[in-house]
Amino acid sequence: MSATILDGKALAQRIQSELAEEVADFIENNAVVPCLTAVLVGHNPASEVYVRNKRNACGRLGIDGRLERLPEDASLDDLLSLVVRLNKAQDVHGILVQLPLPRGMDPTRVLQAVNPLKDVDCFHPENVGRLVQGRPRFLPCTPHGVQQLLKRNGVETAGKNVVILGRSDIVGKPLANMLMQRGADATVTVCHTRTQNLREITRQADILVAAIGQARFVTADMVRPGAVVIDVGMNRSDEKLVGDVDYEAVREVAGMITPVPGGVGPLTITMLLENTLIAARLQQT
Ligand code: GUN
Repeated sequence: MSATILDGKALAQRIQSELAEEVADFIENNAVVPCLTAVLVGHNPASEVYVRNKRNACGRLGIDGRLERLPEDASLDDLLSLVVRLNKAQDVHGILVQLPLPRGMDPTRVLQAVNPLKDVDCFHPENVGRLVQGRPRFLPCTPHGVQQLLKRNGVETAGKNVVILGRSDIVGKPLANMLMQRGADATVTVCHTRTQNLREITRQADILVAAIGQARFVTADMVRPGAVVIDVGMNRSDEKLVGDVDYEAVREVAGMITPVPGGVGPLTITMLLENTLIAARLQQT
C-alpha cells in the first residue's frame, strides 16, 4: 500500500490566505504595515534562494519584506551594528539573520543581539528558554511547520512515540521540546550521530521526523509499516533537491509521508510570516 502524501504546499496556501486576512485587519486597525527584515551576509546560493522565497511570500500577504545585505568580508562588528540599528527601527517588527554566516563569524553573539520581541526565528536564548518552559513568545518556524502538518492532517501526537533524527538547534531540539509539552503530549526520542541500534529505535516510531541533512538516509527497513514520516531534509543530489528520506521506497511502507520539495518547506515560510504578525502585535503598545 502506498502512503498518503501530506501536501505542504496546499496547506501552506490555506494558512497563508487565513494570515492575509489577519494582516489586512492588523493594518486597518493599527495603520501600521508589519515588516520583516532579512539580513544576508555574503552570497551563499542556498541562502539567496531562501531569502528570495521569504520576501516573495511577505509580498503576497501584504507584509513589508525587506533585505539588508552585508559583503562576505563584513566584520562581526559591522553585523552587530546593523542588528542594533534594526532593533531600534520602529518600522521593523521582525529581524531574521539568515544562517549560515560566513566562516569565522560566530552566530551565537549575533542571535543574542537581536531584540527578543523581534526574534521571529525564535533563536534568542530568552525565547528558547520560554519555549522550553512552555510559555512561548514565538514558535520556531520549521518545528511549528511540522506540528501544523501533523495537526491539520488529523495526526494525533498525544501518547504517540515520536522519533526525531537530528539534534540541531533549529529543528531537532526545539521540535522535541514542543512535542513533549502538555497539549502535544508525545513520548519523544531524539537520535543523533552517536545513537546505537538506530533502526530498532526508528521502527518504534509512530511518527518519524528526519532532520539530519543527509540525502535519502532513512530507508524503508527503518520505518514501521503505517508510520507517519516527516522529511525536513533539503539536500542537493545530482542537481536535484532531495530529502533525508528515500522517498520512493519509504512511501510503500509509511502510512503518511511528506514530499521534498512541497512538504515541510512551504510551512516553514508560512510560520515565519505568522511570527512577523505576532511580532508586530507585540510592538503595538
Ligand atoms: N538557515 C536555514 N534555516 C534557517 C532558518 O530557519 N532561519 C534562518 N535565519 N536561517 C536559516
